[in-house]
Amino acid sequence: MEPFSERAPSMTNDSATASVTVVDMAGQAIVVAALEPTRERAWETLTRYTQSEALRRHALAVEASVGAYAREFGEDEERWRVVALLHDFDYEIHPTLDEHPQDGAPILREEGWPEDVIEAILSHAEHLAMPRDTLLKKTLFACDELSGFVHACALVRPTGLEGLEPKSVKKKLKQPSFAAGVHRDEVYRGAEELGVELDDHIRTVVAALQPIARELGLPAGAPA
Ligand SMILES: [Fe+2]
Ligand SMILES: [Fe+2]
Repeated sequence: MEPFSERAPSMTNDSATASVTVVDMAGQAIVVAALEPTRERAWETLTRYTQSEALRRHALAVEASVGAYAREFGEDEERWRVVALLHDFDYEIHPTLDEHPQDGAPILREEGWPEDVIEAILSHAEHLAMPRDTLLKKTLFACDELSGFVHACALVRPTGLEGLEPKSVKKKLKQPSFAAGVHRDEVYRGAEELGVELDDHIRTVVAALQPIARELGLPAGAPA
């Protein structure tokens, strides 16, 4: 991943031609410039709210997996990447389910992120019980926990992602003490709701993470 320069948020350029009305915390209607949902802007928003390297890596891993599915499904890859990058953007400032991700939504709205992006982000949270009624929402949910889990599996292997097979990932899924924070039920249900076999899903995620292995703190693997 190329490094992105830290820059102040700007809504004054050519993309800010439309405007949207949002309601702020005090119930006031305010007009903000609609923002072009680019990958670069999503990274800028993410890194403004997220200093933790682990959280940034999680965002990158989910982005890579969701991006791979967007290509496979012939969908809007950049928009899907934006949603994946931002899905936990507020976790550092809202580390509990009382706040995350629902209290992040007004922040995104004020920044001018489109409503479909915000809705997709909100849908990844089980406790909000929102319908996952689009392919993007199903994909985000399916990739969220599994990307983290595959990353964890690779971190304990000398060769990282290289040669990591579905069989060994599934074996580790059955060990509750390994990466205990990963909700196994969400891994299984995510694949089921997306309609993919778990083995294929694991292969897709492993392959998606390989090009960004270095950014994830993993051995880079042999050049192709
Ligand atoms: Fe989350
Ligand atoms: Fe996440």
